[in-house]
Amino acid sequence: GVPEAIDLVLFGALGDLSQHKLLPALYQLDREQLLDADTRLLGLARQALVLEGFRARVESVLRTHVKAEELDPATLQRFLGRLAYGRLDFTQLEGYTAVRDWRGRDAARPLVIYLAVGASLYGDICHHLQASNSVDDNSRVVVEKPIGHDLASSEAINDAIAAVFPESRIYRIDHYLGKETVQNLIALRFANPLFGTQWNQNHISHVEITVAEKVGIEGRWGYFDQAGQLRDMVQNHLLQLLCLTAMDPPSSLDADAIRDEKVKVLKALKPVTGEALGRDVVRGQYIAGFSDGKSVPGYLEEKGANTESHTETFVAMKTEVVNWRWAGVPFYLRTGKRMPEKLSQIVIHFRQQPHYIFDPDQRNLAANKLIIRLQPEEGIALQILTKDSGLDKGMRLRTGPLNLDFNDAFPKSRIPDAYERLLLEVMKGQQYLFVRRDEVAHAWRWCDQLITGWESRETPPQCYPAGSWGPVASIVMITQDRRSWYEDY
Ligand code: BG6
Repeated sequence: GVPEAIDLVLFGALGDLSQHKLLPALYQLDREQLLDADTRLLGLARQALVLEGFRARVESVLRTHVKAEELDPATLQRFLGRLAYGRLDFTQLEGYTAVRDWRGRDAARPLVIYLAVGASLYGDICHHLQASNSVDDNSRVVVEKPIGHDLASSEAINDAIAAVFPESRIYRIDHYLGKETVQNLIALRFANPLFGTQWNQNHISHVEITVAEKVGIEGRWGYFDQAGQLRDMVQNHLLQLLCLTAMDPPSSLDADAIRDEKVKVLKALKPVTGEALGRDVVRGQYIAGFSDGKSVPGYLEEKGANTESHTETFVAMKTEVVNWRWAGVPFYLRTGKRMPEKLSQIVIHFRQQPHYIFDPDQRNLAANKLIIRLQPEEGIALQILTKDSGLDKGMRLRTGPLNLDFNDAFPKSRIPDAYERLLLEVMKGQQYLFVRRDEVAHAWRWCDQLITGWESRETPPQCYPAGSWGPVASIVMITQDRRSWYEDY
């Protein structure tokens, strides 16, 4: 259904996230008739702009980021009509009365505060919102990753938010949770008894999670070099995917039921320390190479680069969820920038048949795989074995997919961007797609021990050419277990 009317205040309304993601997503919600007629938005930023100037900026953002056929004049006018703008220095209490002034004296509807700004500002903003009486018991706050740099800094930020908002009204975004196929993982696992009974170490030999990106650093060198791929991608997106893949069935779809199960997975994650650091983890950094046939610079040659940097742009690792369901099942994770293509997928490798009666030469074929493609082409494929057709083939086997391609299967439905789903859930006041504080903490705790280990070893990352699948060592790592990364690119 359509959420009730909301007052949405967007801090950082002229920033990248707002322009690339949030404003287009809100426009799409409007187009899908999912915004109440009275829902409105106050954009806040440092820049002096009159309302007409702000509306013109938003219109040009939409013209850039929304497909032409999805931009109809009536929706555009309606959407622009919802906007207001205020100039604000987020660190100064004085200007905050703007929020109350905009809402009017008796604004009873829920207020959603979206902090599309760096986490270092979260504390100040929350404090000033409270000190200026701009928020009440019905106000929600939405915050973006990265929350901190490690456990200690993330706790400090979370404390500052918690001083103003209770956990039940804090929405921590991990935009991967808003992706359609990621939510499909929950449906796939818990609506299909076929998978439910097989989803454990008795039947699954190993799990692969790949999040490959084609892009490089995209002008974000300053941020990225402080973070690296482990903090930027593994601490949040990959661990969330791992949790949804590995968690026990929640008792309901209730937000806390789901998040309790995810936390149990994070607690059971085997720490990667000591010898395992050298053996089970590969850090990489891209050097010059090719992307889409064009030559591209290496990480150390990007604009603004510190040419001595040891920051990783690629990580591959093997870990394990040490519990009843998963003991002994390796989880191989891999993520990097400047890979040959954008590809996110989870591959569940089932065990081989206990008793095998076919051609021994084909023994290596004999295992099912479930491939869950998150992007670019969302879909689910189950690799199964069938008899090769033809009189001369005898009982030769072949593998082939049972394929569910979302674009083919549901051609009319537009696949919504993750932010559309997430904004809608915030407006409805539903938290199951948002990350709870203890999830953030446990994920950091696990990453921190890894980072501490790296720092103590001082080993530089291994090189890989832009446009390749990462350092050779990442292939060696999995080959040593007589396995390979699933390739179906
Ligand atoms: C962000 C990271 O969280 O996710 C970026 O900070 C990364 O570095 C991006 O490029 C990837 O998101 P998506 O949706 O394009 O896979």
